[in-house]
This record gives sequence, structure tokens and C-alpha cells, in this order.
Amino acid sequence: MKKKILSAVLCVAMLSSLLVGCGGAASSKGGTKVGVSMPTKDLQRWNQDGANMEKELKAAGYEVDLQYASNDVQTQVSQVQNMINSGCNVVVIAAIEGSSLGEALDMAKAKGVPVVAYDRLIMNHDAVSYYATFDNYKVGTVQGTYIKEQLDLDNAAGPFNIEFTAGDPGDNNAGFFFNGAMDVLKPYIESGKLNVVSGQTKFEEVATPAWSTETSQSRAENILSSYYADGTQLDAWLCSNDSTAMGVENALAANYTGNYPIITGQDCDIENTKAMINGKQAMSVFKDTRTLASQVVKMVGQILKGETVEVNDTKTYDNGALVVPSYLCEPVFADVNNYKELLIDSGYYTEDQLK
Ligand code: BGC
Repeated sequence: MKKKILSAVLCVAMLSSLLVGCGGAASSKGGTKVGVSMPTKDLQRWNQDGANMEKELKAAGYEVDLQYASNDVQTQVSQVQNMINSGCNVVVIAAIEGSSLGEALDMAKAKGVPVVAYDRLIMNHDAVSYYATFDNYKVGTVQGTYIKEQLDLDNAAGPFNIEFTAGDPGDNNAGFFFNGAMDVLKPYIESGKLNVVSGQTKFEEVATPAWSTETSQSRAENILSSYYADGTQLDAWLCSNDSTAMGVENALAANYTGNYPIITGQDCDIENTKAMINGKQAMSVFKDTRTLASQVVKMVGQILKGETVEVNDTKTYDNGALVVPSYLCEPVFADVNNYKELLIDSGYYTEDQLK
């Protein structure tokens, strides 16, 4: 009896994450292997993404081949090729550079192995079957809207001084984040209510290769010493994510003494959440990697069973070869007022991790 209840509970749990039936479906997955290719261990989020994916795929009964590519494109290409050669039935890839995976995708296509683009779109190849991500444009609009509201741009006299730091030009997401934010803020730049003192407003000028904290920091140091050393007030710095925000925060700590500016971010990394608690970063955008992993595991199950794959966007993500059917998860605004509920109560972090 107890056994029956336990197996019923397990089946319900599997159903909710996989939409597969009990018993038969679970055993039919025996020997099914899923490759998961992550870009780097250097940034906190990819470690979490990889760990969540591995845990959920294993719980669903799959073998998992999880690899990190040290932010090196050639390493990622070889790792994906090895996954395919070693018999992976599906590969899930968070690309280092969206346009540089051609050889690996050629092989996936030749061997009929479906490819799921994870978080970052893979560009210019028709072997990409599905894409799962967060609504990247919305991440940018949440950041831009926050600055607009905090500075009360529709009512305050201004003008306010602002700078921009965007992400990696090789990452298709980076443009979506930047455009989302710019679409909110541009009218105020054009009307003169926002003044970009450095004059750097184009994506190419403000981009940060590899999303590097150090690169972001040195650019911010240059801007601060060139344009703000005379006491010019800096009101806001739009940063597309937490690793680049951290670079700006480091630069400000050593090079700026005026009123502290509003700084945006994304990911709710531990160090940046601490910075929110300490008033060094105003907000972040929480993208619960558990949600994304569950969605991708669900996709993998549906692909392998030949079921209809759940998507909610079939228009936005044109990779140059096709419009990739996508599932967009919801990003959530986070700041010092709601981080406890979002991050601690939900079990994402423990209170100790944020001390
Ligand atoms: C992700 C962000 C992340 C950035 C740097 C982007 O593709 O969507 O969440 O901050 O890469 O790793």
C-alpha cells in the first residue's frame, strides 16, 4: 500500500515536470542520453543552470553529459561533437558565441540529433530545433523602466546624467537587453532630459566582450576619470547584467565621490544581491534558473517522445536561417524590498549565502 502511494506520488511529480506517463515512459527512457553544453564556470549563473539541468534530467531518468567550455568557442564545438559521437539523443547548448557553432550543428544535423538552444539563441543554422530562454527584451525594458521611474523622468526637471554598459556582442541576448532598455530611455535622451556625458550610446560603443567584470570596470574607470572627475554628478548607469554591473560598482568605489547613482543589473548573483542589500546596486532582474531548467527538461521529454513541444513564441527569434520556436520564461524585477521573498523564501539562496 505504502509502495503504491509512493509510486503514485513519484508519478505525479514526474508528470508535472515531464508530461509523460508513469511506468512505461520512465522505463523507455533507459539508455537515453542528453548532452548539456554550458559556456563557462566563471559566472555564477551557468553553474546553477548546469546543476539544475543535470539534477532534473537525472530525476527524469536520463543519462546526462554536462560539459563547461571555459568560454572558449573551439572547446564548446569539440564538446558538442563528442556528445553527438558518444550517442547523445538530444543536445542542449548555451552558446558562448551564437554564430560560431556551425561545425557542431552540421554534425547534429547529419546525425539527426535535435538541438535545443538554452538561454542564448544559436545563430545562422537550421539545425536548431527549439529555443528556451527568458523574455530577453523584457529584461531590458524592466531595467529601463526602473531608471525612468526612479528619476521620475516624466515629471522631474532634470537633466540627469547617465551612462550605459551592455553585454557581449557575440551573445544574441545582449542586443535584446540593450534595445529593451534603450526603447524606454531613448525618448528622454532625445528630449535632453537624460544626458549621456561620455556620448557613448551605441551598442558597439558600450558592449562588453565575454560579459567580463574586469573589462566593464576598466571602461567605467576611463569614463569616470575623463568625464566625472571634475565633480559632475552621475545619476544612473544602465548595466545589462550583474557581472558588468559589478565592474561599474568596483570602478565607482575607487573613482567617484558624488551622490551614488542608480545601477541596474540582471541575474541576482550572490555578490550583486549583497550589493543591493548594501545600497551599491539598485536592482537586478531575477531569472529563476530552476524555471528554465524545468522548461527545457519538459521540452527534451516532448522531443524524445515525438509529442507536440510546448512553445509560446514563434515570431521573435529569427536566427538567420529560421524563426526558432521558443519558450520564453518571465523575468522578475528584484530589489532590496523583495529579494527575501524571491530568493530566500523560494529556496534559491540561504540567508547565510547573502551575509
Ligand atoms: C544571460 C544573462 C547573463 C549573461 C552573462 C546572457 O546570455 O542571459 O543572464 O548575465 O549571459 O553570462
